[in-house]
Amino acid sequence: MTLRHFLRDDDLSPAEQAEVLDLAAELKADPLGCDALAGPKSVAVIFEKNSTRTRLSFEVGIRQLGGQPVVVDGRMMQLGREETIEDTSRVLSRYVDAVVWRTFAQARIDSMASASTVPVVNALTDEFHPCQVLADLQTIRERHGDLAGLTLTYLGDGANNMANSLLVGGATAGMHVRVSAPEGFAPADWVLDAAKKRAAETGGSVSVFTEPKPSVEGADVLVTDSWTSMGQENDGKDRVSPFRPFQVNADLLAATGKPAASVLHCLPAHRGWEITDEVIDGPASAVFDEAENRLHAQKALLTWLVRRP
Ligand code: CP
Ligand code: NVA
Repeated sequence: MTLRHFLRDDDLSPAEQAEVLDLAAELKADPLGCDALAGPKSVAVIFEKNSTRTRLSFEVGIRQLGGQPVVVDGRMMQLGREETIEDTSRVLSRYVDAVVWRTFAQARIDSMASASTVPVVNALTDEFHPCQVLADLQTIRERHGDLAGLTLTYLGDGANNMANSLLVGGATAGMHVRVSAPEGFAPADWVLDAAKKRAAETGGSVSVFTEPKPSVEGADVLVTDSWTSMGQENDGKDRVSPFRPFQVNADLLAATGKPAASVLHCLPAHRGWEITDEVIDGPASAVFDEAENRLHAQKALLTWLVRRP
């Protein structure tokens, strides 16, 4: 088997991303129609941060594929004590057929993958949330058709995992990705460079805004996320007042000028902060389809990873 990992959005080529999204649509239409993990194959699903959707969707999805999920609180593992990530990885590779991990720094999951003989999947790090963006892209396809050429504006913390994954994953899909963030919360140059590299291959584009209104004009999709990601609670930054003008509300949605524009949020949402009740519960919201699609997109990804020749 050709060993592949999914640690960040550009670990899939544009063609491979499209293949996974096609499979996700097939699995959504026929949830029990694939037994890629029959045997059963086992998948370790490890969390060092809280989770509702990722935990539940991986566990249910692995079972639907005929596999056996082993869900572990990473904070209770030896990882947090003296054992190295690489030694943990060598051991996990002897027990399971894939490892899904939610952790802190991306360097940690890179270390896990470096010593692994089974696929490693990023279930959220400080830098990337690529499984979420696969589900986001599936949701956008359902609402708008072909992804290439669509304009997506992400508003909020432009340096967090969702902004980074939307930049790189959206550019991989050929989208025009705009990040709209207050001063001091712009995406890092290394992320913009990775996204631009992909955009050059796919015909997409990447741009950064510091004013919300111009950033949403003509956008097909608005996306937001928490202003304070897990692990940032005590980072000493004001994570409220600079973000208030970037709230996704009816006024900002109307400023897209696109009556069919959609709104996404990976959840958990802080209603009344980054998004209003009116928008998240309104007709433009694809938020709960997006949450459902975590299940289908991740099943497709796992199937694609374990079935590689
Ligand atoms: N969107 C997302 O990853 O949700 P959880 O933190 O609940 O897994
Ligand atoms: N940016 C958020 C996403 C949560 C799913 C966080 O990292 O907390």
